[in-house]
Amino acid sequence: MKGKKVLITGGLGFIGSNLAIKCLELGAEVCILDNLMPDTGANYHNIAGFEEKLEIVEGDIRNSVLMNEIVKEKDIIFNLAAQVSHVLSMENPLLDVDINCKGQIILLEACRMNNPSVKIVYTGTRTQTGSVEGGVIKEIMRDNPSDIYGAGKLASEIYHLIYYKAYGLKTTSLRLTNIYGPRAQIKNPKYGVVNWLIGKAIRGEDLTIFEPGTQLRDILHVDDVVDAMILASEKDEANGEVFLLGSGKGISLIEIANDIVKSVGNGKVRLVPWPPERKNIEVGDAVLDCGKIKEKLGWEAKISFEEGMKRTIEFFEKNLNRYLG
Ligand SMILES: NC(=O)c1ccc[n+]([C@@H]2O[C@H](COP(=O)([O-])OP(=O)(O)OC[C@H]3O[C@@H](n4cnc5c(N)ncnc54)[C@H](O)[C@@H]3O)[C@@H](O)[C@H]2O)c1
Repeated sequence: MKGKKVLITGGLGFIGSNLAIKCLELGAEVCILDNLMPDTGANYHNIAGFEEKLEIVEGDIRNSVLMNEIVKEKDIIFNLAAQVSHVLSMENPLLDVDINCKGQIILLEACRMNNPSVKIVYTGTRTQTGSVEGGVIKEIMRDNPSDIYGAGKLASEIYHLIYYKAYGLKTTSLRLTNIYGPRAQIKNPKYGVVNWLIGKAIRGEDLTIFEPGTQLRDILHVDDVVDAMILASEKDEANGEVFLLGSGKGISLIEIANDIVKSVGNGKVRLVPWPPERKNIEVGDAVLDCGKIKEKLGWEAKISFEEGMKRTIEFFEKNLNRYLG
């Protein structure tokens, strides 16, 4: 990373800001591009204390004039900008397609024309696969997303792979599981359920879980994601590849919620019926088989659930006002 010129799209958001700070610590020159999309994790507090060290461009990946300029001379692009809500993707599918499909092609075209040797790490989602029998997700399975968000992320992943095959752009897609950790948005239940539950507990509110609460999730701490993204940016073996990224362990939502209540010492778990708009797009149990990334890149999750929860709760207890305003 030292001396590398890095662009992070969506860099004011949850994962992007954690990644930006890590890249700075490793000696990279970091530029963030973000349009501060409402109701996402975009938040200037995410980069508090690092503002002076970063170049921040408030702009949109759908602006081709801007993209043609901003990709020039970059060594690495971490491409995280996205419409990130499953629910919103069903309420406003055209917005999802505009950002998650058209916006991605604009970025890839800008790279093809202005910086074809750049490395691009894209963040896909394990929900591109949809529901699977037995609940264990592998890269070789047929993709069958349950919502427009999953379909758009899949299309965009395919665009990245096409630009690798057709033009030699060094692209990698990491399909992320449910990510939690410091700097996530905690106001809105439309995405990032674990972070939202932590916020609820800290405020002493009810943590509502859809019945029966036994649905399994694979949750991963953001620092593990950041390590994988940096590794993928450095390794040529990652070019043109898709990797699942998770802890490889299943934990039920009710167990997560109970642990959060216990660790925070506040809040109460309450089971509620599924609202139809959520039930229709629920993917069921999901645990990721991360054997491929372990074998090819040598990555595996290092942060235990207990340690990850401790770090996350400590962060939000200290910074709550910055995340509820
Ligand atoms: N957090 C998770 O659990 C998770 C799981 C799977 C995949 N992902 C993917 O990881 C990436 C980052 O997610 P996150 O959790 O950090 O979300 P986030 O909402 O915190 O960050 C997304 C950022 O993208 C920005 N953005 C949205 N549209 C943009 C546009 N048109 N131009 C420029 N910036 C734009 C937003 O303003 C926001 O800052 C996304 O691509 C998401 O699909 C996240």
